[in-house]
Amino acid sequence: MEKIAATDRPIESLLARRWSPRVFDPDRTVSTEELLTCLEAARWSPSCFNEQPWRFLIFDAMVPETLDKARDCLTEGNAWAKQAPVLILPVARKTFTRNNNPNRFAEYDVGAAILSFVLQATALGLFAHQMAGYNTAKARAYFGIPDGFEPQAMVALGYFGSLDALPEAQRSREIAPRTRIPVSEFAFRGGWGQTLT
Ligand SMILES: Cc1cc2nc3c(=O)[nH]c(=O)nc-3n(C[C@H](O)[C@H](O)[C@H](O)COP(=O)(O)O)c2cc1C
Repeated sequence: MEKIAATDRPIESLLARRWSPRVFDPDRTVSTEELLTCLEAARWSPSCFNEQPWRFLIFDAMVPETLDKARDCLTEGNAWAKQAPVLILPVARKTFTRNNNPNRFAEYDVGAAILSFVLQATALGLFAHQMAGYNTAKARAYFGIPDGFEPQAMVALGYFGSLDALPEAQRSREIAPRTRIPVSEFAFRGGWGQTLT
């Protein structure tokens, strides 16, 4: 399903086409090749000192026990994500490899890598939905995430499912237009609060 952003100016199509659905086709798998392509896109993201602080835990039908565990981490509000054939947990290394000093841009860099991943997924016809709503303590324990690494937003990945079986409220939420605050509210020229145009 398309939900192209109603942009005020033309932007790259990929950026306008990306959106976060809550309906995934549970029967259409994502191939390892598709996953590797998205990870390759993430790999070429910029990062502070080229630290590349991202790590990705991938959960899919290849290892069903861990996919079940990842699904078990989701909050009730994100139960819809259990339909996604793949869950991904990006993790940030919080210190620099070269000197073990704190890397205050680690999470920023992982966010950049995730967007590259998501945009590449969009280009492949896949859909991704990032989620804060999961139990990080459970994820740490289930997947052996070591100290010094911080789990980020979990990502549901897959192909779009069908709206037909959804209850009306959920259906309306899915088809509602995407909204954003205008650029004038978040971009300032020369000093805080000063208008750009
Ligand atoms: C860090 C982060 C956490 C999010 N957490 C959730 C979540 O727990 N559940 C959910 O349904 N959507 C979640 N979202 C999705 C946002 O609600 C969504 O990106 C936003 O409404 C804009 O919609 P769009 O991605 O379709 O443009 C999250 C997005 C991000 C980036």
